Amino acid sequence: MQQSGARKNKVLAELQKLRQLDNHYEDGRILCSMCTKPHPIAEKAFRMFFDSNLGDMGLFPGTTQIEKEVIAQLGELLNNTDATGFLVTGGTEANLMALLAARNKAKVEEPEVILPYSAHFSFKKICNMLKVKPIYIPLDSAFRMNVSELESNINKNTVAIVGTAGTAELGAIDPIKEISESAVENDVWLHVDAAFGGLILPFLKEAPLFDFKLRGVSSITVDPHKMGMAAIPTGGILFRDRPSIELIKTETPYLTGKTQFTVAGTRTGASVASAWAVFHFLGREGYEKIVMNCLKNTKTLTKGLEKIGFKVLCSPQLNIVAFRSNDTTKLAEILGKKGWFISYIPQYDCIRVVLMPHTKQKHVADFLNDLS
Ligand SMILES: Cc1ncc(COP(=O)(O)O)c(C=O)c1O
Repeated sequence: MQQSGARKNKVLAELQKLRQLDNHYEDGRILCSMCTKPHPIAEKAFRMFFDSNLGDMGLFPGTTQIEKEVIAQLGELLNNTDATGFLVTGGTEANLMALLAARNKAKVEEPEVILPYSAHFSFKKICNMLKVKPIYIPLDSAFRMNVSELESNINKNTVAIVGTAGTAELGAIDPIKEISESAVENDVWLHVDAAFGGLILPFLKEAPLFDFKLRGVSSITVDPHKMGMAAIPTGGILFRDRPSIELIKTETPYLTGKTQFTVAGTRTGASVASAWAVFHFLGREGYEKIVMNCLKNTKTLTKGLEKIGFKVLCSPQLNIVAFRSNDTTKLAEILGKKGWFISYIPQYDCIRVVLMPHTKQKHVADFLNDLS
């Protein structure tokens, strides 16, 4: 750090210069992100609450109430008005809290968690941190957990089963209904990672069951900073009931709140306010429109790719398209050189594109044009 401070204008100009190095969602070149440009009202709300700290709830009763209201809205969307939970930094922290609760509930010496091979990589970190052994289940031909392999892997050490509603790579949705039946039968915690799909599926006319409507679902990750268009970072973790969160409670004697449930201590209320603002501003109708538009772009891209002659890996269930060519790594490299940000997924040898709200029809057309 320099000895004496600089002028305000100089500081801001320096920052602006560095900001220019970043890529911007508006350019339409970012086709690999599951986050998007937050809604303008999210930005306004974020600024209003930028100094609020939910780690010390007693100081910020207004922000605390806002978090409760956002959780209640998410609970309603996910078919459980009794759900309780928190807004956190993202899917990773939300998944961590869920597995921490599940592990604490089971109280076994050598805990194991069952997940599909397609589970998000955050679970690798989490298993490492919590010292829980991951047991991976193969996928079926639609890249979903092969449930026929589930039962034989459940044993006395199983603390949780994880299913995904919208995998990061392909947007696949595991057969949560069947998984839930196994979870009920074996009395095992079922965590649904709907970080991405949780704010898409409730707005579709026909969607597979994945939420608290299913009796076996104990917790759900749902991230407002992905398809919810809230500020970054805003993740969400919902538990079926109040006793679940008691499993992750910590006393915080010197703070006004007296207890915390989240991994983070100091925690921004700005994210919480941003989610509240977008939820209220858009309502169900607004989200339906956004989701429909993303799915329309998904369809256009899929059709265009097939017309050019690429192999689309599976019929997209959400706004994610994965495709292959004869030499997919080379193609990914060329696209990168042309300024497109796409993901190459080695385990499926495919290029994966996420059609987020910042991707407009024109960008899809430009991408297809470059591909052809
Ligand atoms: C299904 C799924 N789970 C978890 C995560 C992790 O979320 P975050 O990066 O917000 O921690 C992601 C991220 O894209 C995801 O797609």
